[in-house]
Amino acid sequence: MNEVIKTILERRSIRSFEPREVEAEIVAEILECGRCAPCAWGRQSFEFFAVTDRRLLHELACLTAKYLGGEPREHDFFSAPLVILVADLRENFMRLADAGCAMENMFIAAQSYGLGSVWINQLSPISDKLEVIEKLESIGVTKDRIITSVGAFGYPGEGPREKELISKVHYIRGEETL
Ligand SMILES: Cc1cc2nc3c(=O)[nH]c(=O)nc-3n(C[C@H](O)[C@H](O)[C@H](O)COP(=O)(O)O)c2cc1C
Repeated sequence: MNEVIKTILERRSIRSFEPREVEAEIVAEILECGRCAPCAWGRQSFEFFAVTDRRLLHELACLTAKYLGGEPREHDFFSAPLVILVADLRENFMRLADAGCAMENMFIAAQSYGLGSVWINQLSPISDKLEVIEKLESIGVTKDRIITSVGAFGYPGEGPREKELISKVHYIRGEETL
């Protein structure tokens, strides 16, 4: 088994992180892997926001609590030292598929450096609220874009969980008549 396959198979969602920051060069490589992901029509309309500003993350956690319920600490992005927001054009109806490709590329890149990561389905459901739009605009997410996905990254503060693969695989083989 080669290293790429091993990295893919070993990746698990991590929801507890060490506070130490992720090295800038690694963050840049993770982002490059996200940007390099396949996307519909090759438009590359997704944009990436690497957030290490805890105050902004707290403000976003407060807005999440306000609109989705619960306490801000329940929405604090697992206290990850690095949170990457992916935004895409509202008009791109393939934006979720594009986000999925970008996120998995970044998760695998993170795993290859011994980092943990997890997808957080947090801002997308509230990204039509004016306060959220304004807050995101303050960091450069223009109004024509919507948050498609959020990833938390950092050095793991917990081990990987066991995972049983339950999806089915079907091999459809033709008759060898040639
Ligand atoms: C589209 C999507 C949304 C997800 N949303 C959340 C989330 O909001 N919170 C969370 O803790 N994990 C979230 N996850 C992570 C999944 O729970 C996790 O990938 C799944 O349980 C399989 O575990 P594994 O990643 O360790 O293989 C999400 C994953 C995907 C692909």
